[in-house]
Amino acid sequence: MCGIIGYVGSRNACEVIVRALERLEYRGYDSAGIAVVNEKLEVSKVVGRVEKLKSRKFEGTIGVGHTRWSTHGKPSIENAHPHVSCDGKIAVVHNGIIENYLELKEELKTHSFKSETDTEVIAHLIEENYSGNLKEAVLKAIKKLVGAYALCVVHESKPDEIIAVRSGSPLALGIGVGENFVASDVSAFIEHTKKTVYLNERELAVVKKNGVELFDSEGKKKQLAIVEVNWDLEQAQKSGFKHFMLKEIFEQPRTVEETSKIKINAELKADKIFITACGTASYAGLVGKYVIERLARVPTEWVLASEFRYSNPIVGRKDLLVVISQSGETADTLAALRLAKEKGARTLAIVNVVDSTIAREADDVVYTRAGLEIGVASTKAFTSQLVALYKIAEKMSGKKMDLSGIPKAIEKILAKDKEITEIARKYFKVYNFLFLGRDVNYPIALEGALKMKEISYIHAEGYAAGEMKHGPIALVTDEVPTVAIAVNDEVKTKIISNIQEIKARNGKIIAIATEGDTEIKKHANEVIYVPKTDALLTPLLTVIPLQLLAYHTAELRECDIDKPRNLAKSVTVE
Ligand code: M6R
Repeated sequence: MCGIIGYVGSRNACEVIVRALERLEYRGYDSAGIAVVNEKLEVSKVVGRVEKLKSRKFEGTIGVGHTRWSTHGKPSIENAHPHVSCDGKIAVVHNGIIENYLELKEELKTHSFKSETDTEVIAHLIEENYSGNLKEAVLKAIKKLVGAYALCVVHESKPDEIIAVRSGSPLALGIGVGENFVASDVSAFIEHTKKTVYLNERELAVVKKNGVELFDSEGKKKQLAIVEVNWDLEQAQKSGFKHFMLKEIFEQPRTVEETSKIKINAELKADKIFITACGTASYAGLVGKYVIERLARVPTEWVLASEFRYSNPIVGRKDLLVVISQSGETADTLAALRLAKEKGARTLAIVNVVDSTIAREADDVVYTRAGLEIGVASTKAFTSQLVALYKIAEKMSGKKMDLSGIPKAIEKILAKDKEITEIARKYFKVYNFLFLGRDVNYPIALEGALKMKEISYIHAEGYAAGEMKHGPIALVTDEVPTVAIAVNDEVKTKIISNIQEIKARNGKIIAIATEGDTEIKKHANEVIYVPKTDALLTPLLTVIPLQLLAYHTAELRECDIDKPRNLAKSVTVE
């Protein structure tokens, strides 16, 4: 949930690190800090955004940096990383959670602690084990850690090396010429090098200016596996859009087309399928459940990953667990995958980030090929996940889904951006929104509500439209607009009835309807039309106006769209 970076080379480390931290900010942004070795270890921390670090000018060509999403202790200078040892010579940046930190703190009673964080124990533990060899001290220290960590460590007396190690949290090395990098993800160093080494569980790297050495957790030397990442800096920039989220929404005609080209080679035979994920990815999974059951007639259970892992699930050898994750690092999704494997089930991961932990641990992987997604609010990854699920359903059922018209249809909806902005202008001051859908568009109602609340901070509820009369209709007043997905499908007449029930109670309706449906105008205050397509494919279209509505509402409310409060892009803690 935090971003970490290490740099060693010939350039000014402070400048390189601050730039990299800006790219990592999507992982957390409540405080930030940097440590540079320039004869002495110099540390600077700020509460708030990385930008504030720009005024700090340190000399030195080796250092580490951190941007934080708080877990233990509120955002403050004391709790911000890097954390340092008592003698002020060792600096540590950490992403993850150390579960036994209180126990370790007790063991390290003689050390003086300055923060409320779990991370600080690591700096003291390394200090306790240090006798001139930083790698050995880190290897000894990690033996005592319970939990998840990706660490970068520097020592004042070792001005030529960074020790990087991971277990449970991601870490990648960037291999340059006369300089090397360590970071939570590749976007931090992509402007300098595309040559990458993804560290595996419990691997440790000694990173120097002119080389990198890799070791296992016992200190045994290993071979480096360098890969070339297939995306570039352009993808990590806004390219003229005001926000990454808007850029990513507008990329969808291309990304959906790209995902449509994938071939599913995975083994899909199963008595029962479980689909599990978190947040937006889980709603893609719920669409997948409808589609797989409808087309392939294989019983498919949808369950949130955070629930699956503690439910003692009845899953075994004849079952297939499908996990979905943009980042491939979400802690609950990863835990669900590991649990299903333990119980003997086959696992298939639908993942965007290549070589991420989930991708590497699943028996089979389907890459969504949506490209780098930076906006915290997931958009293009969602539609690509849907396409991957349609392809899986196609393969399981032998029935063809015609996705060829979808990119053009999305383009047509994106052309309504101004129209949707005007609708947002009418409603952006409300305190509550309702989102209703049925059947395959029920998950889209959930997703529409999630998008609205996470970036605009307006309370929004997504509901299966038929459930309205069982409680939520009590919320309806003329100040609570309802977004109703009422496209041409088998349940349209049902949803029109639900709309009428809301209208009868003075509720305002924003309908998402199929082009050519003039009748709907009688029932709705606003109508956003989407092109006609196969009813099962409509989620690929109906979600687009909901993304734009959330975006423009948040924009009018002057919210920090790419970095919504309290959130982080990849949730690598439970
Ligand atoms: O990386 P993942 O797809 O596993 O992330 C899952 C959720 O954390 C993510 O979809 C989250 O709900 C987004 N902020 C939604 O926009």
